[in-house]
Amino acid sequence: MAHETAAFVDAHPRSAALHERAKDSLLSGLPMPWMTKWAGPFPPYVESATGAHFRCVDGHDYVDFCLGDTGAMAGHGPAATMAAVERQMRRGITHMLPTEDATWVGAELTRRFGVGSWQFALSASDANRWVLRLARMISGRSKVAVHDHCYHGSVDEAIAMLGPNGTVVPVQGSVGPQVDVAHTTRVVEFNDIGGLEAALADGDVAAVLFEPALTNVGIVLPEPGYHEAVREITRRTGTLLVIDETHTICAGARGATGLWGLEPDIVVIGKTIGGGIPSAAYGFSPEVASRVADAVAIDDSDVGGIGGTLAGYALSLAATRATLGEVLTTDAFDRMIPLAERWEEGVNAVIGASAVPWYVTRLGARAEYHFMPQPPRTGAEQWANSDPELERFLHLWAMNRRVLMTPFHNMALMSPATTAADVDRHTEVFAEAVEALFA
Ligand SMILES: Cc1ncc(COP(=O)(O)O)c(C=O)c1O
Repeated sequence: MAHETAAFVDAHPRSAALHERAKDSLLSGLPMPWMTKWAGPFPPYVESATGAHFRCVDGHDYVDFCLGDTGAMAGHGPAATMAAVERQMRRGITHMLPTEDATWVGAELTRRFGVGSWQFALSASDANRWVLRLARMISGRSKVAVHDHCYHGSVDEAIAMLGPNGTVVPVQGSVGPQVDVAHTTRVVEFNDIGGLEAALADGDVAAVLFEPALTNVGIVLPEPGYHEAVREITRRTGTLLVIDETHTICAGARGATGLWGLEPDIVVIGKTIGGGIPSAAYGFSPEVASRVADAVAIDDSDVGGIGGTLAGYALSLAATRATLGEVLTTDAFDRMIPLAERWEEGVNAVIGASAVPWYVTRLGARAEYHFMPQPPRTGAEQWANSDPELERFLHLWAMNRRVLMTPFHNMALMSPATTAADVDRHTEVFAEAVEALFA
């Protein structure tokens, strides 16, 4: 670790200088606290990014498998999105009036996810917060349920996890919760049908907010029958099923909803759909849409807790139309998914040859290796098998060989611009790391 840290510092003098300077004006010298999660004493500062690569200010070209933690899943600066953004910039960026792009995007999201009546936000966090408000309003119920070790953004009710004896506690690091999450939230293990049944039995849960596969603690895939049971229990107990596709859009153009034939009441998606421009959306089944329409007092809706002056603004929707229409298309997924399979096969071959007890999971265009010999069934199992020091070492090793992984756990994402050579570079670097650690 000391050797790799020194190598990183040596190779990044300009990033180091920029970081030093930033300490004068930014808290911890970084624009956001989670940027301290990058392996190494400071992150590489970006000069430019194109496609599946970025160049740091020290002149190194990196293969980017982090892709802005899905924000740049469409690739850096996709041509169609950039053209649409440039066009829209000359025609007015924001005016709090609708543009035709909103209608196009709504229709496209309906085609992809089955639900309709879409609304827009600038982040998936906002979209989730607003959906939970609406769910409480139309159901008259106060609580929400989430998976243990979920992440849905800065959503108070979802910053919760299972504590001892099934209690609900704030996640480690939760910053100043305004209300004790034990009052707002039920938490259930992923893949635990009995646990969900118990959590919803009292009939006081307005909505479950679920990722269809966990992606934020590490990839945890649903077992056969899990989603069917979730749908049956939520319907029987009158609980709204909210599926957050923000990361699981990696499963294919229609997300996990399309891949697994899910029947959500509400779909939320953010991050990637704007091709890097802030954009998020949430849509309702016809039945839920009519309940929302009946319940929301339109005259008061500007101050009701849902909204953002720039939500659904013209630039965001121009970018989203171009990204969905021309970049993150079915054809693009037909190229991205085989690349993730190649990544999975490469990493599996290294694991097999070295006999380390690790496992690779994949969901469409996203793949990940776990420090355990079998796939995790729950978030807690994945968490218990994580190893922050080892992760940091592997990420730093990769960065020193110009490969960027997502700074949280061991996840790689393919974009339409990623190539087989990019994937093979990761496999080589991973093989060298495993050899250095275990040979
Ligand atoms: C599943 C999921 N939902 C919501 C969010 C929040 O997205 P944002 O940070 O853009 O608000 C994230 C962020 O990682 C996410 O993974």
